[in-house]
Amino acid sequence: MAFTPTLFSKASLFQTIHHSNQRPSMAFTPTLFSKVSLFSYRRTFCIQLASAFHEFQPNKKWRQPVASVLKLGGVKIAKDEIVRDNPTNNVPDSIFSKLGMQLHRRDQHPLGILKNAIYDYFDTNYPNKFDKFDDLCPIVSTIANFDDVLVPADHVSRSYIDSYYVDSETVLRCHTSAHQAELLRGGHTHFLVTGDVYRRDSIDSTHYPVFHQMEGVRVFTPADWEASGTDATSYAAEDLKKCLEGLARHLFGGVEMRWIDTYFPFTNPSFELEIYFQDDWLEVLGCGVMEQEILKRSGRVDNVAWAFGLGLERLAMVLFDIPDIRLFWSNDERFTSQFSKGQLGIKFKPFSKYPPCYKDMSFWISDSFTENNLCEVVRGIAGDLVEEVKLIDNFTNKKGMTSHCYRIAYRSMERSLTDEEINDLQWRVREQVETKLLVVLR
Ligand code: DAH
Repeated sequence: MAFTPTLFSKASLFQTIHHSNQRPSMAFTPTLFSKVSLFSYRRTFCIQLASAFHEFQPNKKWRQPVASVLKLGGVKIAKDEIVRDNPTNNVPDSIFSKLGMQLHRRDQHPLGILKNAIYDYFDTNYPNKFDKFDDLCPIVSTIANFDDVLVPADHVSRSYIDSYYVDSETVLRCHTSAHQAELLRGGHTHFLVTGDVYRRDSIDSTHYPVFHQMEGVRVFTPADWEASGTDATSYAAEDLKKCLEGLARHLFGGVEMRWIDTYFPFTNPSFELEIYFQDDWLEVLGCGVMEQEILKRSGRVDNVAWAFGLGLERLAMVLFDIPDIRLFWSNDERFTSQFSKGQLGIKFKPFSKYPPCYKDMSFWISDSFTENNLCEVVRGIAGDLVEEVKLIDNFTNKKGMTSHCYRIAYRSMERSLTDEEINDLQWRVREQVETKLLVVLR
């Protein structure tokens, strides 16, 4: 059961679904803590992000071919602008190939169906109030991704271990909060932002380096809270809770819920909402009253606001009974044909499950070794054929050398893998682990 701390909260928004036997179980586990060159023209072309076109042919083998050009908002971006052999860049081909896929914009896809169901809730309860964005460019400045939402200079999320850098001042957004400040500055006071977000991470059935979030923001003016007799912050916090409890009921029906106090750099107070679902507490979103500093910087000194961020995959895994996060990326008809526009309640029926194949690998680590780097190497080679990478043994000898043993589970969602194919994958993983991660295989 791999466990990965999330970036912004003590308790994760979307990474704490623990699993047993492939089903997302609802166990709640707290986590540790709760370029200009590209950017200058990005401003003009990235506002509307069109679907990528992938210039590759379906490949008989398991390797995913990678497009060499991506079309974003009518402008072509060459792969070598995003994936470069440069110390300030850590975006691999496998991630580049996900840019512009926009699963959340497909009405028949579980993520699109869920997004639309949330839209319905806001349209019904706040007619014509919320501006919706689901096409904002995922390539953002570090200023937007971190500074604008007050992420401290030494925060773990800024590291190359946790985030994808295009260059030292440009990242693939690691959360949709990256758009808060820009939209506030643009005069928006009620908005929802849905998008693909990117994080370097471990590998298991609930973790994938690309997933989807929805951000919500509502700004209040003094007239809103003055009549209520409460102070601005309490007014916003209460309104936020009412809104999100209603959303949880809209999605899950009559459920038990509870609020947990937490910490985010961008809100104060900060909360997480948990719902009781299938015998356990499930954390479904993070939220809070926006830090005044964010509003002040966007010229809104007299206002208060609430904000929330929710992870679409983890909600969809529960709502549709989807056992593995890789399935969201599947083009297999046996997956895609099970969902239809507007149908939130449908339960996914797994098609026959193919057996996993386990391969162990032991090595002496170096000081610079990180599990996220290992997972990236494995994913770069095996793509979606890797189901889990798990540390199964760890010891330090008398000389102070530390050995790790990882078990890699290979399994396709769609077919049986041959021994030959898996051995080939594992052989290449071993080779690259040794050369790229500077470890010594045992
Ligand atoms: N950006 C947070 C994350 O990705 C989620 C979040 C929490 C967004 C609280 C918010 C918020 O807007 O108020 O972990």
